[in-house]
Amino acid sequence: MECRVYMVKVSYHQKPARAMLIRSFGAEVYPSPTDQTQAGRAILAQDADTPGSLGIAISEAVEAAVTSGGQYKYALGSVLNHVLLHQTVIGQEALQQLEMAGEYPDIVIGCTGGGSNFAGIALPFVRANLRAGKATRIIAVEPASSPSLTQGRYAYDFGDTVGMTPIMKMHTLGHTFVPPAIHAGGLRYHGMAPIISELYNQGLIEARAVHQLGTFGAALQFARAEGIIPAPEPSHAIRAVIDEALHCKATGEAKVILFNLCGHGHFDMSAYQAYLEGQLEDFAYPQAMIDAAMLSLPEVPA
Ligand SMILES: Cc1ncc(COP(=O)(O)O)c(C=O)c1O
Repeated sequence: MECRVYMVKVSYHQKPARAMLIRSFGAEVYPSPTDQTQAGRAILAQDADTPGSLGIAISEAVEAAVTSGGQYKYALGSVLNHVLLHQTVIGQEALQQLEMAGEYPDIVIGCTGGGSNFAGIALPFVRANLRAGKATRIIAVEPASSPSLTQGRYAYDFGDTVGMTPIMKMHTLGHTFVPPAIHAGGLRYHGMAPIISELYNQGLIEARAVHQLGTFGAALQFARAEGIIPAPEPSHAIRAVIDEALHCKATGEAKVILFNLCGHGHFDMSAYQAYLEGQLEDFAYPQAMIDAAMLSLPEVPA
């Protein structure tokens, strides 16, 4: 069966080796937005130089699937609750591994894009907090340039840019939000999965936003200590881990911190190059642009 991948344009150019890996296994990879779909053409007509976004790529993929007469099926990798639950095998394993080590975490940390990766490590520990009297702090870390949990509104919104998916109640920056071209491509998404949004809403998890320079600083510190080059996405979590560890050092407390190293950075050498050559900058998404994107939220009767 033919497999077609719409890859966010900026990631396609930042991580050419990742596209090549996908092609090696027989799929065709297109930098999104493309001129193959109505969604892509409409977005290119507004801004021919758009870096693309996960929301736009989802619109293109959904359109390609529904107009293919059944030739293509569409698979979403994050955001939807069933995907989050599927990923919890990560946290279940972590629980057992820690038990074998005779430990239990005081803090669990993961990075969040659409939410499935964070949910994967975090949800089994949320359950233990709710059902087994544990008191683990659980921290979601997102980029300051795409801060859906810490600055988005909790409202019904579409999962894609054009508005083809069902609406979901989630923390959102607005489905028309096009995030800046930071190197953590997997975290450039306007919304947050409904389960994670509701846990945050109820105060059962914490969230924090970090900048990319501090993130890459943490990534290099980790690489030099552990011999593993992390992807820019989990480097957000590493930033928070180091900050929590430094806080413990200052207060003299001993804490067990668990985090999810959800990807190596071998395909992200151009990002490391940009950082090491001083070409990266921090970018906090301006509130005025978030407010503007909020105007596109669908109207839902109360
Ligand atoms: C390496 C890596 N980590 C984390 C994420 C974020 O995952 P999620 O969308 O499940 O939050 C991604 C998304 O593409 C990724 O590529």
